[in-house]
Amino acid sequence: MLDSVASAIEVVPMGGPCGAEIRGVDLSKRLSDEVVAQIQRAWNEHLVIFFRGQDVSQEQQLAFAARFGELGARKQAPDHLRAKTEGVLQLDPKILLVSNIKLDGVPIGAFGDGDMWYHIDSGYTSRPYRYTFLYGVELPSSGGDTLFANTYLAYEALPERLKKHLAGKKALHIHEYKRTAQVDVDGDISDAPHWYHPVFITHPYTGRKALFVDRLMTARIQGMSKSESDEILAELYDIVERPGHVYAHKWALGDFIMWDNLATVHARADFPRGERRLMRRCTVEGEPVRE
Ligand code: OGA
Ligand code: MN
Repeated sequence: MLDSVASAIEVVPMGGPCGAEIRGVDLSKRLSDEVVAQIQRAWNEHLVIFFRGQDVSQEQQLAFAARFGELGARKQAPDHLRAKTEGVLQLDPKILLVSNIKLDGVPIGAFGDGDMWYHIDSGYTSRPYRYTFLYGVELPSSGGDTLFANTYLAYEALPERLKKHLAGKKALHIHEYKRTAQVDVDGDISDAPHWYHPVFITHPYTGRKALFVDRLMTARIQGMSKSESDEILAELYDIVERPGHVYAHKWALGDFIMWDNLATVHARADFPRGERRLMRRCTVEGEPVRE
């Protein structure tokens, strides 16, 4: 009894559509199975959880993330795009540096400057990551918030007409290494990684249904004309990104955020040019997603 009281974590919900702070945990230490189970329960409920004031090395970050599943391997960009899209300091296959910092004019990390549209991490692959973990190492003086939209709520908010019409349908997700532009699905996509996933998925842990599309990489609903698909996708994105569905995280140094990549989509707000931003990311692998 005393033991479980001593190891209880404090979960502070943000009071919005998703997001909770967890207090009383030092992520640089090896956590007990019971604490990990408590974090997992809070995660299933709040979808995005974060810890403030953490001081974690790369090894400690990977060791913590590995408690939630098999660590994800960083996706490799095609050779001719690697330096531009991925960065030259990507030295560990399980880590992605997310940064705009350049060394001798060459990016050290991925995703560069500015805003980034809503997306699912590796949604263009057969097994999108289940989880992403992002640690703030260097931050700009303002901006660069990460925005999370709850896609369970988006599913629940759909008009019945769309729930019926889209049941059983799949959509094409394509990665063209852009951050704020839609994919040209009628161009040649054979060089761009892509995959079809159900428009509605059932979350493997919670059994809840979520809408599984994102503005950045979902290109076409299978079996529909371009005009019908474009019209429906625009309607879906507006529902996903409704302010009432979004939690915006304002970063502080030492923040460690982890999100459920099957129940949320995320985006990044703009930040001042010329200011450095560096985050360290790792992931947990997923399985093929199912309706
Ligand atoms: C990511 C990502 C957003 C950010 O790491 O997958 O989308 O705020 N990051 O840097
Ligand atoms: Mn991302």
